[in-house]
Amino acid sequence: MQSDADNIPGQTAQGHMIAEHWARLAITYEGAVAELRSRGIEPGKAVSEDLHELDMIHMGGLAATDSLAQIAQIGRDHNVLDVGSGVGGPARRIASKYGALMWGVELSAPLYQTAVRLTELVDLQERVKFKLGSALALPFEGLEFDGVVMQHVAMQISEKSQLFGELSRVIRSGGYLAMHEIFGAKGEEPRYPLPWATEPAMSSLESLEDCLDRLTHLGFDVGDFLDLSEDGRQFHVRAIAAFNRVLNEEEGHQGISMEATQVRLRASESMEENLRTGRIRVGMIVCYKNKG
Ligand SMILES: C[S@@+](CC[C@H](N)C(=O)[O-])C[C@H]1O[C@@H](n2cnc3c(N)ncnc32)[C@H](O)[C@@H]1O
Repeated sequence: MQSDADNIPGQTAQGHMIAEHWARLAITYEGAVAELRSRGIEPGKAVSEDLHELDMIHMGGLAATDSLAQIAQIGRDHNVLDVGSGVGGPARRIASKYGALMWGVELSAPLYQTAVRLTELVDLQERVKFKLGSALALPFEGLEFDGVVMQHVAMQISEKSQLFGELSRVIRSGGYLAMHEIFGAKGEEPRYPLPWATEPAMSSLESLEDCLDRLTHLGFDVGDFLDLSEDGRQFHVRAIAAFNRVLNEEEGHQGISMEATQVRLRASESMEENLRTGRIRVGMIVCYKNKG
């Protein structure tokens, strides 16, 4: 049967698996609303900050999105695209705290819909908009963004030249690409399952060095790499403890099903080991599109 997801330009077999994977694991609108109520927050009165423990799908959560925005010096009324925008947490944060005008592009239809509904819930829909689409065929004309942000997305996309070509295409001359991404180690397989991949076909880790070469060839001036691998490891240590408390029913489930919590626990255990042994690295880089 045909679905909306089959008609997305740039869709791939890997993209299908990834979109379904996140649809199984990510928070739903109903889950977020139930969680707000359980914290004594009336959903109709919620503000963006009330959602950020629930709507960030990357290591470091809210603090990491803040760091990325600050390193990139995202400012008031910048036009910024968030690629692989998930349920919209980073885009809402960058709009509400730093004043940017945000677009998000997301491949998984349920996450896209949750992003739109949560944004309306906190009344940010004038400044934060989303499109269902792929990073491999961005639904924008080109050169219209002051900057692109991307948190924990590239490691799921095997067509790296196409991905980075698309990012470059939509950034204006002198604009920025601010990445908070996950990298592999050359010649070493990570331990599975990973948060984004239950099997190797779902993961496409590139080494940091190859990624930096690619960006330089595309005409970006590449900034320093901020290595957050140890912070990432500690993030997963804390996540393992929190998931175990949820599974032992000592703690609320934050709007995520028990099954999803079980899957996330296994993935965090792998990540702790991968980050400790250097098979995976995580960090931030901001690069600037040459004016030439
Ligand atoms: C780990 S989540 C990160 C979500 C969000 N960036 C955040 O930090 O909260 C990765 C997201 O990238 C999306 N994604 C993966 N491949 C994509 C593609 N080709 N185009 C657009 N989104 C994609 C996934 O569906 C998922 O929502």
